[in-house]
Amino acid sequence: MIALGCDHGGYGLMQDVIKHLEERGMEYKNYGCYSEESVDYPVYAKKVAHAVADGECERGILICGTGIGISITANKVPGIRAALCGDCFSAQATREHNDANILAMGARVTGPGLALKIVDTFLDTPFSNDERHIRRIKMIEE
Ligand code: RB5
Repeated sequence: MIALGCDHGGYGLMQDVIKHLEERGMEYKNYGCYSEESVDYPVYAKKVAHAVADGECERGILICGTGIGISITANKVPGIRAALCGDCFSAQATREHNDANILAMGARVTGPGLALKIVDTFLDTPFSNDERHIRRIKMIEE
């Protein structure tokens, strides 16, 4: 189950992501927002971060205008490793190296074609399980 969250800046791109997940037959929970009316991104970042941290959802996708506010907020929640990605290399590396559990993107930065490729890369890349990466991830929370 994928947890989804966005603010008004990310709403349009999130509709593309939702359509894409449906085409892929992937299950998701949409934590809002639900329109382009101005809202506060921390509300939605926290909902998705808690859904992932509590194990209700395996991974999350967060979108705001830049991806920055929403990722800063999500990373305040223990157990969350939110990665702001604007390219597929970073999306692959953050899954393999950081076992990132939330993908953050900026809808005013990254176009929809690339964004959907980033989503696929993030969802399809497993964690490497390398000892050195496990050790470093543990050190994040210490
Ligand atoms: C909203 O205007 C904008 O500030 C927000 O989407 C995001 O970019 C914040 O980091």
